[in-house]
Amino acid sequence: MTAAVPTMTTAEIRSAFLKFFEDRGCKLFPSSSLIPDDPSLLLANAGMNQFKQYYQGKKTMHEIGATSCQKCVRTNDIDIIGCDGRHASFFEMLGNFSFGGVSKQQACAWALELSTEVFHLPIERLYFTVFTDDDETYDIWRSLGVEESHISRLGEDDNFWAAGPTGPCGPCSEIYYDMGEDVGCGRPDCAPGCDCDRFLEYWNLVFTQFDRQEDGSMPELPHRNLDTGMGLERMSAIMQGKTSFFDGDIMQGLIKLGEEISGATYVSDDYAGASRSLRIIADHARSVDFMISDGILPGNEGRGYVLRRLLRRAVFHGRLLGVTEPFLARFIDRVNELMGDAYPELLKNVTLVKGIVNAEEERFSTTLDNGRVYLDDALAKLGEGETLDGASAFMLHDTFGFPIDLTVEIAEGAGHTVDIEGFNREMEAQRERARANVKGDAWGTFNDVWTELTDEIAETEFVGYDADRIEDARVVAIVSGGESVAHADAGQEVDVVLDRTPFYAEMGGQVGDSGHIASDACALAVSDTRAHHGLYAHHGVVGEGTISVGDSVLAAIDVDRRELIRRNHTATHLLDAALKQVLGDHVNQAGSQLDDHRLRFDFTHFEAVSTDELARIEDIVNREIFAAKPVVTRVMSIDEARASGAVALFGEKYGDVVRVVSVGEEERPFSRELCGGTHARNTAEIGLFRIVSESSTGSNVRRIEAVTSMGAMKYLEEKERMLSQAASALKCRDDEVVDRVAALQQSLHDANQKLKAALTGGASDAIGSAVDNAQDMGSYKLVIAQLSGLEGAELRNVWDTIRQKVAGPAACVLATVTEKGTPALLAAATDEAVAAGFKAGDVIKAIAPCVDGRGGGRPTMAQAGGKDASGIQAALDAARAQLGL
Ligand code: SER
Repeated sequence: MTAAVPTMTTAEIRSAFLKFFEDRGCKLFPSSSLIPDDPSLLLANAGMNQFKQYYQGKKTMHEIGATSCQKCVRTNDIDIIGCDGRHASFFEMLGNFSFGGVSKQQACAWALELSTEVFHLPIERLYFTVFTDDDETYDIWRSLGVEESHISRLGEDDNFWAAGPTGPCGPCSEIYYDMGEDVGCGRPDCAPGCDCDRFLEYWNLVFTQFDRQEDGSMPELPHRNLDTGMGLERMSAIMQGKTSFFDGDIMQGLIKLGEEISGATYVSDDYAGASRSLRIIADHARSVDFMISDGILPGNEGRGYVLRRLLRRAVFHGRLLGVTEPFLARFIDRVNELMGDAYPELLKNVTLVKGIVNAEEERFSTTLDNGRVYLDDALAKLGEGETLDGASAFMLHDTFGFPIDLTVEIAEGAGHTVDIEGFNREMEAQRERARANVKGDAWGTFNDVWTELTDEIAETEFVGYDADRIEDARVVAIVSGGESVAHADAGQEVDVVLDRTPFYAEMGGQVGDSGHIASDACALAVSDTRAHHGLYAHHGVVGEGTISVGDSVLAAIDVDRRELIRRNHTATHLLDAALKQVLGDHVNQAGSQLDDHRLRFDFTHFEAVSTDELARIEDIVNREIFAAKPVVTRVMSIDEARASGAVALFGEKYGDVVRVVSVGEEERPFSRELCGGTHARNTAEIGLFRIVSESSTGSNVRRIEAVTSMGAMKYLEEKERMLSQAASALKCRDDEVVDRVAALQQSLHDANQKLKAALTGGASDAIGSAVDNAQDMGSYKLVIAQLSGLEGAELRNVWDTIRQKVAGPAACVLATVTEKGTPALLAAATDEAVAAGFKAGDVIKAIAPCVDGRGGGRPTMAQAGGKDASGIQAALDAARAQLGL
């Protein structure tokens, strides 16, 4: 029996939780993106991720704590998803966090108050676990009125929590809801921590007090912190009187759609078959929508791979349910209906998200078909009732993305079993390899010299929008050999950090500036500039003297180079706008790189851009250039920027104040983008825009490379030079080249025809001598010969010539090496020769293997191609042997 608790919708639970903590002085934070701010973390997996620097004491918060509802993706348990009521890849985590401002006692008291007085959960149904020797928390729960029999102690596996192998972590205490004796395993010793669904953990209170290091040591963090997380879907199930994560309102909304599409029926306590598939589709579709909306694209590694895997599993389970039409886009709409209010980012790029999903779904259908061919081949090789080996099953999984469930199902259909143990061994080995790669990664990259410097010096001020040189920059740090140093001498390779600089650091695709730094004491040629957490590192080798921290220096960029870079950057914006005009609104920047030579722009689009479209795009951009339009940059709030219709990068995070770059009239600009780069002042400076290439960089992403101004001039000069060279080789004027080439092609064609006629016709010496040497087979003449310079099809003409020359019953076996270097064979016979026992088809069948080929045909005419031309002599010998010669 499930408890009588009041019904609340997921939305009501979400706001009640956040309000409870806001009322108690915690600051409300929106969910952070699924792409964490932390380069070493794959995906946001807990509410605490965005607060890491507060835990480490690098940032401080004025409020006593924070509260949030965080979107999370965890895929470590992907194989279990759907097989119980507790695991999922996507979930929302309600949390409250504190960095020294809230005591343990207070945190536990709030958790109990919220559970029993806001959510009205009966205390008799609540169970609590504490870390093995955490007497303090044990006593706190007791002091709050929890019965001794409702508190248990669990070890590291359950009650010690960390987001990754290193970083903030600590012991935790969990709160479970008893779903009732009739739910779960029914064993008398069933208790919190059991694998069954009876005790549902809905809240985890982590006392984050350690900072685990690479070497395993765990120094104390600056404060005794707090990180609590409540699973929203689990709470919804509890509040709605359900036993499973999947039975609350939102998940049911998705499962219902699965039922509609497939005609299958969902049974809440059936953890196999169709119900499992429906759960998997509902869960994975949610992950897919949220991940793509946050800017992740399907790919073969990292986040892209996780996304691809989830998407493919969803599609595959659709197939298991008998759905053959694409269906995932319908789930995107349903997820948006159910969750768009709480996560408006889902509604911003719906067309793009659906386009990506459709394209990937289509690709995967082809993969499934290819995998099917491999599997059918492997099964055909097995004897009756034999087992398919684990390595093949793993190969199908790994190379074809072919899920094991499908392999098993198809194998069983053909009367075979699959070596699941062998498959699992291969999977485990792969997991080990993956784990070895991840180890030490999470949080790891924060602890380098640049992170240390951010605690000591302020971020560099960039003055390069207005100035090309400043006389009074100060050296605030020097990094050499991975360490912060006070001085560097001539010959030393260094990164020099200045307090202010006109040098642009590589960002948003724009390359870093080069130039020079100088003072009375030193000179340094800067080859590149990069930013590390806001510190601008000017990279170069000290040319003369000694540079020291504290020096006042001149910093001057290479102005000519920057001018070219500016032009390429503005042209990139024009290209982006033109692409959207010609191809559609689904075009979104997926990467950009530009320097003084060229620009490269990657964007989402589902097929190659045609020559005609490319010409239109080029034309639009050039018209904007020739119209000499002003390029205006304004600084404004992010809200103002969005309201002005500025194009923001898909998946990019922006600060509160942003720069907006517009080309053209203020009211109706041709292009308006949020951008921190440096730009031409007027489009006319770009001079000319030429597309150099269009290609694919992976699924759904196209790449255009282009040149402008000096780069375009050089490109055209090069083309002109090639044209002149061609003209001089053809001994004609430039404007005659095209006609000249056409005429040459025609005469080459005519010459070839004549040559072929000579080689295959009656005048051919080779045929003449082959016929002279014909073997007398009694009732017919047999010609066996190798001819050169002919294609397979031309051997038929040779046969016609032979027939005419012999002028009586005849047969032939002919061979040639084609222009491509492959062998071709032909056997042919007149009716009389066939009657005398020469069967062309049989001859070819017997001799084709000599050239690694296959072929056949009628008794009067048969042909074969092959791969190995060195076997031609052997093939002709085999023909002689077969005919008894
Ligand atoms: N970080 C903990 C968890 O994810 C509590 O928020 O369970």
